[in-house]
Amino acid sequence: MKSLSVNDLKISKSLFLLDPEVTFLNHGSFGACPKRVFERYQYWQLEMEKQPVKFLQRRVPELLDKARAKLGKYLGCSADELIFFPNPTTAINMVVRNLDLKPGDEILSTDHEYGAMDRTWRFICKETGARYIQQPIPLPLTSPEELVEQIWSGVTANTKVLFFSHITSATALTFPAEELCKRAKEAGITSIVDGAHAVAQMELNLDELGADIYTGACHKWLCAPKGSAFLYVCKELQDQMLKPLVVSWGYEAEELGPSLFIDHHDWQGTRELAAFLAVPDAIEFQQQHDWQSQRERCHKLASNTRNRLNEMLQQNPISPNTPDWFLQMCAVQLPEVDEVALQTALYDRFKVEIPVYRWQGTPFVRASFQAYNDQKDADRLLASLEELVPKFV
Ligand SMILES: Cc1ncc(COP(=O)(O)O)c(C=O)c1O
Repeated sequence: MKSLSVNDLKISKSLFLLDPEVTFLNHGSFGACPKRVFERYQYWQLEMEKQPVKFLQRRVPELLDKARAKLGKYLGCSADELIFFPNPTTAINMVVRNLDLKPGDEILSTDHEYGAMDRTWRFICKETGARYIQQPIPLPLTSPEELVEQIWSGVTANTKVLFFSHITSATALTFPAEELCKRAKEAGITSIVDGAHAVAQMELNLDELGADIYTGACHKWLCAPKGSAFLYVCKELQDQMLKPLVVSWGYEAEELGPSLFIDHHDWQGTRELAAFLAVPDAIEFQQQHDWQSQRERCHKLASNTRNRLNEMLQQNPISPNTPDWFLQMCAVQLPEVDEVALQTALYDRFKVEIPVYRWQGTPFVRASFQAYNDQKDADRLLASLEELVPKFV
C-alpha cells in the first residue's frame, strides 16, 4: 500500500477564517478557528442578545454544565473537576493566590516556561516571600529520564510546588508530565502543569496523567474561539482552591451549584460566555475530521521541516527527532541574526507569519503545523529563510 504523503488528508484552509494570502505557520500563539466553529460562537452571542435575562439567568448554568461535561469526556476527567477560564494566564493567577505560600517555600520550575507564567510566579513570590526556582535545562535534550533527573535535582525540603509546561512555548518540547507528576505525588509536592499547547496536540487523560492541577487552552490547538480555556483541579485539592479571583454571586451562593469549587469560580459577573459554549463544537469539528490522522500528518511535516531547517542553517537539533519530544510544533536554532528584523522581513516580503525570538540568548524560529498547512507552506518557509537569513546575520 502506498504510504501517505504529508499533503494527503490535508483539510482545506478555506474551512478556516485565515487570510489565504498568508502562509500561516504560527498556530501556536493564538490558534485559528474554523468557520463552522466561529459560526456557533456567534450563534451563542446572538442567543444571548435576543433575550439576555433568560439566557444569562436561566439557560447559562445548564449550558455551561453541558459544555463542561463534553470537555471533561474529551480530557478524561469528570465535569466537576473543570472550570472554564478565558485563558491559562487567568487560571494560574487564581491558583497561585490559593496556594498559601509562606516565606521560604519553593516553587520548582524550569527555564523553558512561558513568560507570563514566570511573571505570575515572581509576583506571588514577592507578595509571600516564597522563591521561584527555575532549573536550567540546557539543550539538546537527550532522554526523558535525564530530563526528569535534571528537574528533580532542584527539589529541596522547602519545595512546595512543581510547575512545568507539558509542551514548552519557546522550545516546543514535550516534557515527561506523567513521570514528573508521579514523583511529585510520592514526595508530597503539589504538581501544577501548564498544558496550554498540549490540548489537542496530544490525547489527554487528565485523571490518568496524575497532575494535581492542570490548565489548558482550548483556543490554541483545539481551534475553539479565543477566550476559551480551562482549569482542572483534582477533587482532593479543590477545598484548597476556593478563593475566587473575582468574588461574585457564587460566593456565599443562595442556590448551590454542582460544588463549592465550581460555585466560587464560575460566575464572575456579567461577561462573554460564548467562547466557552463553542468548545463542544470545536471538539466535534476535530472529531468529524479524523484529527488523529491530521496530528500524525502534521507531525511528519514538522519533523521533515525541522530536519531540512537544521541542515540548511547548519544547526544541531535540540532533541531527538521523535514524536515523544515534539508534535505539531518545532523550534530550530538560528545562526546569530537580528531576530526582530528577520521576523518582520519574513512577513513583509514573503507573507510568512512565524515567530522569531530569543530563548536564553539564542535566536530561534518556531514553526507550527495545523490541519490547514501543507508541504507548500514548509517549502515557502525554507525558501524565504534561505534568502533572508544571510541578510540579517
Ligand atoms: C506554554 C504557555 N503557557 C501559557 C500560555 C498563556 O496563554 P494565554 O495568553 O492564552 O493565557 C501560553 C501562550 O502562548 C503558552 O505558550
